[in-house]
Amino acid sequence: MYICVCKGIKESDVESLGRAGITCPNKLASTLGIDDEDNCCGRCLNNINELATIASREHKRHCTSVPIQT
Ligand code: FES
Repeated sequence: MYICVCKGIKESDVESLGRAGITCPNKLASTLGIDDEDNCCGRCLNNINELATIASREHKRHCTSVPIQT
């Protein structure tokens, strides 16, 4: 599913960033390039907290799926 039609960013892109540990709303916005006031309509930026939730959920899932070695 596309979360940014202007830049063609998909939910899977946000999930990938989450797995890489990028879950902060500001960092997500800058990494995705949706904080560029000159080249973005700003619609998807209104949903940045929802995107951060998606990234955080994926980050937690990724972190807990790695077996812990003792
Ligand atoms: S919908 Fe993301 S910049 Fe327009």
